[in-house]
Amino acid sequence: MSDSNALGREQWGSRLGFILAAAGSAIGLGNIWRFPYLVGKNGGAAFVLIYLLITVFIGLPVMMAEFAIGRAAQKSPVVAFKAIGATPCWSVIGWMGTLAGGFLTLSFYNVVGGWTIKYMIESLGGLLPLAADGKSGDFFNAFVSNPYGVVFFQVTFMALTMLVVLGGIGKGIERACKVVMPALFVILIILIFRSLTLPGAEVGVSFYLKPDLSKLTGETFLDALGQSFFSLSLGLGIMITYGSYLGKEEHLPSSAVWTASLDTLIALLAGLAIFPAVFAMGLEPGQGAGLSFVTLPAVFAKMPAGGKFFSFLFFLLLFFAAITSSMSLMEVSTAFGIEKFKWERKKAVCVMGTIIVLLGVPSALSLGGAPTIAGKAFFDAVEYLCNNVFLPLGSFLACLFVGWVWLPGAREELTNQGKLPFPWLNAWVWCIRVVAPAAIAYIFVTGLKW
Ligand code: PHE
Repeated sequence: MSDSNALGREQWGSRLGFILAAAGSAIGLGNIWRFPYLVGKNGGAAFVLIYLLITVFIGLPVMMAEFAIGRAAQKSPVVAFKAIGATPCWSVIGWMGTLAGGFLTLSFYNVVGGWTIKYMIESLGGLLPLAADGKSGDFFNAFVSNPYGVVFFQVTFMALTMLVVLGGIGKGIERACKVVMPALFVILIILIFRSLTLPGAEVGVSFYLKPDLSKLTGETFLDALGQSFFSLSLGLGIMITYGSYLGKEEHLPSSAVWTASLDTLIALLAGLAIFPAVFAMGLEPGQGAGLSFVTLPAVFAKMPAGGKFFSFLFFLLLFFAAITSSMSLMEVSTAFGIEKFKWERKKAVCVMGTIIVLLGVPSALSLGGAPTIAGKAFFDAVEYLCNNVFLPLGSFLACLFVGWVWLPGAREELTNQGKLPFPWLNAWVWCIRVVAPAAIAYIFVTGLKW
């Protein structure tokens, strides 16, 4: 495959490069920070089970649909729907995705991305001695309440993201993911080994793997749905954008299966690194968002040996995962600037990056106490809105579009005009027309609560 097509549009350098970049987008804070804390909050293995079912029957088909739209259109989400002949109203999916993903999601994502840098540094400094005294919560609160600190690290993280995206698709994003993703896997395996060999680890393993279905509520389903979409980077036009840089000869269903499997594998492994250690140290898994930043430092501090090293490694892992995802979010707003306003890549990255940083500042500051929206910290409000409203809504509309309006076009794309086999085509059609939209609508209506 060449690095640009006949129209001069950039393309991925290789199939592996694309899968690693798509997996790089999918695998992120969602897998390592958010998935484990949701498992902890929702009572363990029952949540894992629902999450897996939703990913197979809803997430994966939606991912295929997004890849198909992107590759057929060869355009970023806002213009993609027009490019494949859809009536203008469908462009709302692209607009909503670009605003919610390229701007809003990235605005809070880079805040947490910044924390990972701070924690990486502090792992080697003062974090663990404080955590050993039971003060990791105080450490976290002091950090997020210091406006200069949080904003400094948020800006640093964003600047690194912008630097990679400046390099473009093949030389920037793809090259970065090819190095970072294998490193991430190795680090995770080391952490799992450490966690499972701690005395008392079995309690954590059974919390994580033995489902207790009585713990399921409507909210569990919405959390699992939102998490599945968030983790697979769906509903925001990311996979439309990435699909648009894909060559015509690629087989979309298998790329989607690879991407979704890698993403799910890493989430499951992250849980396996975290829960056994948390239980072995006699700590609580239901901490919520603080699991990685408050509970884990206490776990590392209590480790019999090598706590500092493992703490550094864990936050490095979190940083790697975060940056390959933030690149993909940044690429959406960048592609938007390039296509809609005909800007050069450099200008698009600088202008959009600045807007996103400014949007993120209230989120960065809000965990220190202010600002709030309707009773929630600004950060929590933006996160909730993106994950539990925009992602499901974007995916729901994408299902309606692909399932009921553009099905023949999608069929052609998924089978490369009938040239490549896709044995699950009929099952996919059912999922995208009926199962996914009905499930999303039901879960959305029953689980939504501010
Ligand atoms: N999938 C990423 C993660 O798991 C986050 C993300 C969401 C990235 C939506 C792009 C779009 O962290």
